[in-house]
Amino acid sequence: MKILSVVGARPQFVKLAPVAHAFTGRAEHIILHTGQHYDERMSDAFFRDLGIPAPDVNLGVGSGSHGAQTGAMLEGIERVLTEKMPDWVLVYGDTNSTIAAALASVKLHLPLAHLEAGLRSFNRRMPEEHNRVLTDHAADLLLAPTTVAMDNLVREGLAERSVLVGDVMTDVLYATRDAVAANPAPFGLGDGDYVVATLHRPDNTDDPYRLQAIIDQLASLSLPVLLLAHPRLVRLAGESGMRLDRGAIRVVDPLPYPDLVSAVMKSAGVITDSGGLQKEAFLLRVPCTTVRPETEWVETVELGWNVLVGADLSALATAAMRAAPVPTDATPYGTGHAADTVADALLSRGA
Ligand code: UD1
Repeated sequence: MKILSVVGARPQFVKLAPVAHAFTGRAEHIILHTGQHYDERMSDAFFRDLGIPAPDVNLGVGSGSHGAQTGAMLEGIERVLTEKMPDWVLVYGDTNSTIAAALASVKLHLPLAHLEAGLRSFNRRMPEEHNRVLTDHAADLLLAPTTVAMDNLVREGLAERSVLVGDVMTDVLYATRDAVAANPAPFGLGDGDYVVATLHRPDNTDDPYRLQAIIDQLASLSLPVLLLAHPRLVRLAGESGMRLDRGAIRVVDPLPYPDLVSAVMKSAGVITDSGGLQKEAFLLRVPCTTVRPETEWVETVELGWNVLVGADLSALATAAMRAAPVPTDATPYGTGHAADTVADALLSRGA
């Protein structure tokens, strides 16, 4: 059986890793990289560090407006699918690479599977919300990570095409956690003596007033803040003449995945607007403060490990410095074996 995975952005490489390993020896697995992320630290480092085979094709699409970027991907993916004619196309998450591959596949009548189906923020300002809803409704097989995601799919009339497989990010996180457990805290910092922060959502970065208010809060914290600066944040702060490295903030480049996991494990807390990092913090039992009005990963909030800070940014510093919550042994994201279930789900459906 021939399965073609389409990926393009950093979180998708993380999800691809355990899935690519699970297909090894069981199916022909082709990797198509759209080139949405292209910096060494945003792309190649993940393939290398997570032992993912090099992409069979890289479209090299790069950055652009949503329309230009998605359109270029659609054209390139269609060309590759027409040549490879896989039995299944597998798409991941909610990026522009996901929706482009979904559209290309269904128009060519190629069976489409969506990994991380059913997540909803119910925030229609997020490009990702449209990408994931449209992809779910186009797909033939919906691979849901959680029971909450399954419930969303059932509510949207998609039950017949949906299957609960668990969360593949848990697989890769647990394997990495065990491999880096003995690493020291990064940049000469002490265990539990710093906070890890990331910011890249347009709703936070593109309005200079909001971005300034977030940076002010981070700068005021009583612990050093390692700001792992996404290129988008650096570019937009630069364009509005905003200094990021002040007060408690230490600006560093995005970290390779194993270093990120290690840095979060040793930190006092995480402040982020990333989807994946909220969940990684929870799985590592590190308190997270999410700079968004809502989250797709509602379990992290319900279990007390994630606090949302949306409109009222003055609450950010206090939330970030709160004490750790009551310990929990809940496993809403599975136990680290989801990728095998994903492979089984696809292979059992045949060509
Ligand atoms: C994309 C995804 C988002 C995901 C994020 C992970 C969409 C709509 N958004 O957002 O869901 O959480 O990836 O990082 O698909 N840039 C570089 N080098 C790179 C990549 C990007 O410099 O390798 C800069 C460019 O200035 C670019 C900007 O970052 O314009 C934004 O990149 P883009 O891929 O459009 O979206 P992300 O913000 O990364």
